[in-house]
Amino acid sequence: MAEKWVLMVTAQTPTNIAVIKYWGKRDENLILPINDSISVTLDPQHLCTTTSVAVSPTFTHDRMWLNGKEISLSGGRYQNCLRELRARASDVEDEEKGIKITKKDWEKLHLHIASYNNFPTAAGLASSAAGFACLVFSLAKLMNVKEDHSKLSAIARQGSGSACRSLYGGFVKWIMGKEENGSDSIAVQLADEKHWDDLVIIIAVVSSRQKETSSTSGMRETVETSMLIEHRAKEVVPRRIIQMEKAIKDLDFPSFARLTCSDSNQFHAVCLDTSPPIFYMNDTSHRIISCVEKWNRFEGTPQVAYTFDAGPNAVLIARNRKAAALLLQRLLFYFPPQSDTDLNSYVIGDKSILQDAG
Ligand code: DP6
Repeated sequence: MAEKWVLMVTAQTPTNIAVIKYWGKRDENLILPINDSISVTLDPQHLCTTTSVAVSPTFTHDRMWLNGKEISLSGGRYQNCLRELRARASDVEDEEKGIKITKKDWEKLHLHIASYNNFPTAAGLASSAAGFACLVFSLAKLMNVKEDHSKLSAIARQGSGSACRSLYGGFVKWIMGKEENGSDSIAVQLADEKHWDDLVIIIAVVSSRQKETSSTSGMRETVETSMLIEHRAKEVVPRRIIQMEKAIKDLDFPSFARLTCSDSNQFHAVCLDTSPPIFYMNDTSHRIISCVEKWNRFEGTPQVAYTFDAGPNAVLIARNRKAAALLLQRLLFYFPPQSDTDLNSYVIGDKSILQDAG
C-alpha cells in the first residue's frame, strides 16, 4: 500500500416518513421490531443527509463528525454497522492513484466519516433514518461491499430501525421477519418513486427543538408498560399493512388517508398509554389535526392525510398539487408566520429516490 493517500466517497440519502408506524422492539441489540411498517421516502432536496466517508493509512482511529461536531463512535449501533460492513468488504483498486486495498486491509484501516443533515437533527423528522442509511450506503460503496439494497437495509437497521426503509425510494415496507438473528428483517420496495407522483408532502415544522424522549427509550417504555401495544402490534397493524399495500397499489387516496391518520393517532395513543405517558405532539399539532379533519369532512372526501412521528412536527400528504396549494393557504391563514403559535416554517417535497453522489 502507498503511504499517503485518501480514498473518499460521498452519498446523499433522504429521510422517510412512516404511514404505518414502527414502535416497539423484540430485540434491542439487533433492532428487530414487533410489527411490519410502511413508509414514503421523501425528496432529498428538502430532508436529507449527505455523508462523506474516507479511508487512509494515515488515519489512526475511526472518527465521525455530525453537522461539524465530532461525535463518539463507541456506541453499539455504530460498532454493529461498522463490523457488519468490514466483514463484507472486498478488494479495492485505484490504479491512477496507485491504491490497492485488500479485503484483509479493511480490518486494520481506519475511517473518517462526516455527515450533515439539511434539517433539524433529532426533532422527530427521522434524522437517524437518513443518517444511518447514508452511513451504510456510503461505506458500502467505499469498501466495495457487494450486497444488494435489501442486505444493506438489514445492516442500516442495526443503526436505527427506521433507517432500513431509507435505502429505497418510493413506498417501502420493513418486514419484521421471524429469524432470531434478524436475517429476514429487511426493507423491500413496494412501489418506486414514480408511482403515485400526484402526492405532495408538506412538512409543517412546529418545533425544531430536540425531543425530550428519544424514539429508542420511548418505544422501550411502551413495550414494558402499555397494555394497548400488544393489541396494536398483533391485531391492528397486520390488518392495516394489507390494506395499506392495496391502497398504495390502487392509488386509493381515501383509504390511504384513513389508514395513515388512524395509524398516527394510534401510535400517539400507545405513547399516552405508556407509564409515565409520552407526549410527542403539542397544542399546535392538535390544532393542525383538527384543521385537516374539518376540511376533509367538509369536502366529503379526504384531501390531505396527516402523520406525526416522535415529535410535534406535522407531515401532511396532499392528494395532488391543487389540494397542496389549498392546504398551504389554510396553514398560512390559521398559523400565520410570527403568530403566537410555534409553527414557523413549511417544507414542501415530492416522494423521492435514493441518490448516489459517490
Ligand atoms: C415514530 O428508528 O428512530 O419514527 O430503532 O430505536 O433507532 P430506533 O428508533 P427509530 O424509531 C422511529 C419511530 C417512528 C416511526 C417509524 O419511523 O416507523
